[in-house]
Amino acid sequence: MRYDFDEIIDRRATDSIKWGLYAEDVIPMWVADMDFRSAEPIIRALRMRVDHGVFGYSRTSEMLSRAIQDRMHRLYGWVISPQEIIYIPGIVTGLNIAFQAYCAPGEAVVAQPPVYFHFLRDPVRHGRILKDPPLVPHGNRYEIDFEELERAITPDTRLFVLCNPHNPVGRVFTEQELTKLAEICLRHDIIICSDEIHCDLVFPPHRHIPVASLAPEIESQTITLMSPSKTYNLAGLECAYAVIKNPEIRKIWKDFSYGMIPGINIAGHVAALAALDQGQDWLNQVLKYLQRNRDELLEYVRAQMPSISVTDVEATYLAWLDCRDTGIEATPSEFFLKNARVALSDGAEFGQGGENYVRMNFACPRKILFQALDRMKSALKPA
Ligand SMILES: Cc1ncc(COP(=O)(O)O)c(C=O)c1O
Repeated sequence: MRYDFDEIIDRRATDSIKWGLYAEDVIPMWVADMDFRSAEPIIRALRMRVDHGVFGYSRTSEMLSRAIQDRMHRLYGWVISPQEIIYIPGIVTGLNIAFQAYCAPGEAVVAQPPVYFHFLRDPVRHGRILKDPPLVPHGNRYEIDFEELERAITPDTRLFVLCNPHNPVGRVFTEQELTKLAEICLRHDIIICSDEIHCDLVFPPHRHIPVASLAPEIESQTITLMSPSKTYNLAGLECAYAVIKNPEIRKIWKDFSYGMIPGINIAGHVAALAALDQGQDWLNQVLKYLQRNRDELLEYVRAQMPSISVTDVEATYLAWLDCRDTGIEATPSEFFLKNARVALSDGAEFGQGGENYVRMNFACPRKILFQALDRMKSALKPA
């Protein structure tokens, strides 16, 4: 089936966070969800389940765990077993379990900003110490300063939280980088919590590698968080999972969550299974569409808004725009909201190194993307 990602779908009356927060004349390019209709097999599976009409307590089927197990093996050569998969409603839930279950109040978590804000805010909110050695921009891409990272680790550091592929800087870390990162964590005996929610939204020639798949000693010290929610735009259905190979680390997770953290609901379960079983065709098509959006966005910004620098986007549908040379006096996200009526994520939310940047979500029909870019360009022109 051929999907039409150019179709403009009105989401305003659907309780969408993205479309509900701002006035009607604002184009929302902020929170990370896509404005595309879901894959037909997912919609069909949900419809059939709704038509059944009985929604009592449910359990996660073996079939879903087998589908995840097969996927890990097929894509990454990584062998996992169903009992190593723990279902959770979302990745943010998983991050917070990790921050609290493996790290006592007063102990430290390491994250590398600019990064998804929950990595930075949530440990602190729960009384943990945040160490934040930043990623370093080199030309159009960000790199890890391994020495800085190692210096940030103290004897009371318990957890390193990795974002790969990276939101917002769009990196897909290489095997060499991941190996070096993991070696540092192993040397200091800290657990790696690897948020790989964007793992399917990777553009060629880049290739996602789960850090845990690199070696047995790495997998036994790693919690891998994945979800079909970004890949298939199912965030509202709340279905995610952690893969934890090490039985002791898994037990701590389960003991901590017992009675507090539900698994996944019926709708999330049905959608995830349909996505993993029959969603590849939609995914191939959406990736092509996103890749063209990315290419055209980068070309537009570089040619027509030269005071903004944009980082290369190896993965995700998020572009990271450096507005420091624009001469904008206000915060750039406020400037574009007021003068272009385009809502972007404020770079400062992503921690140090994000000030005066904005993040732009380009997972929308191309016509909307260009409307937003044209408005931003006009707003930048002196009156
Ligand atoms: C890196 C990263 N982790 C987690 C999430 C949110 O995950 P969830 O909705 O499953 O809690 C996002 C959403 O933007 C993200 O970019």
